[in-house]
Amino acid sequence: PANPLVDGFGRHITYLRLSLTDRCDLRCTYCMPERMQFLPRAEVLSLEEAHQIALAFIERGVRKIRLTGGEPLVRRDMIDLVRALGRKIGDGLDELTLTTNGTRLAEFAGDLADAGVRRVNVSLDTLDLDQFQQLSRRDRLDDVLSGIAAARTAGLKVKLNTVALKGINEQQIPEMIDWAHALGMDMTLIEVMPLGEVDGERIDHYLPLDAVRQDLESRWTLTPSGYRTGGPSRYVTVEETGGRLGFITPLTGNFCEGCNRVRLTATGQLYACLGGREQVDLRAAVRSDDPDAQIAQALDTAMAIKPERHHFAISQAGEAPALERHMSVTGG
Ligand code: GTP
Ligand code: 5AD
Ligand code: SF4
Repeated sequence: PANPLVDGFGRHITYLRLSLTDRCDLRCTYCMPERMQFLPRAEVLSLEEAHQIALAFIERGVRKIRLTGGEPLVRRDMIDLVRALGRKIGDGLDELTLTTNGTRLAEFAGDLADAGVRRVNVSLDTLDLDQFQQLSRRDRLDDVLSGIAAARTAGLKVKLNTVALKGINEQQIPEMIDWAHALGMDMTLIEVMPLGEVDGERIDHYLPLDAVRQDLESRWTLTPSGYRTGGPSRYVTVEETGGRLGFITPLTGNFCEGCNRVRLTATGQLYACLGGREQVDLRAAVRSDDPDAQIAQALDTAMAIKPERHHFAISQAGEAPALERHMSVTGG
């Protein structure tokens, strides 16, 4: 593009994570409290506004858009936006994709595939019915599994995202990898991040992935893989299963050096970094008298304030999380 998005450290921004809602139909204990206070609907961007902002990003060189949340599939009419952005695939966009908890995927998989989505990331932390109910505080494992099956039937490539949690799903990780790989799905393990207050203490369940990796290496042969998707995950191939396993290590292995992404909240606030404290108001820009110029200026500001890296340390018991904002607000 004529005017690419480049930050103060020379990093090219080509990946937009676009949150459609902070709401969710699950309440994963490491993510949010049971009584999560959601944003007033009046503050949320309309889908037309989100579309207009997304087009501005594409003009500035964004080639990958990931719709996130909260849970993007609980936003009413979100499929209209997927269809509108799907028309940009091959005309600016290389990839339009989605991170979802899967509960409503059975309903939408076909429409997503028709709109040009090729790949979805499904968050799933356990295959055990009781554990799923405890962890997400909702009894929806069957819906998620039907969602995954429907996505595969619709021809979508599915990657599983699993937050590694000590004393919760720790013992099940090998079994989940076996299951995912047997179905031809990649799987990525994630370290829990200190974002927003939750009811318990994240430190009680924090599991550094170097320990998990060591454990897996006593069982399998893990060969580093050059496979990359433009996200933070670093992959190995599990020789015995033939499948790919990713590691996202915001705490034990910083990956910000090659960062290519920014995130837009459902209310139109642009965070140049998941761990950043500063935001740029794209909602004001898109609602102004001269949206094109205002958006362009806001994007320049975001590039100027993008920090070099995030600094997450897991909060100790009784300590406030590193960041007040929940993951469900910035969409990861
Ligand atoms: P792929 O396209 O498959 O690479 O997806 P992705 O890994 O970019 O996105 P996904 O939505 O699957 O995110 C997986 C996890 O990575 C989520 O928990 C995100 O919060 C986290 N993540 C993504 N980008 C960043 C980042 O820049 N910093 C940190 N700390 N975490 C990130
Ligand atoms: N730390 C790490 N991952 C989190 N997610 C939600 N909250 C957190 C957190 N505090 C995960 C979800 C989903 C992805 C988008 O982010 O489980 O896989
Ligand atoms: Fe919802 Fe995702 Fe948070 Fe779970 S992790 S409560 S699925 S936003």
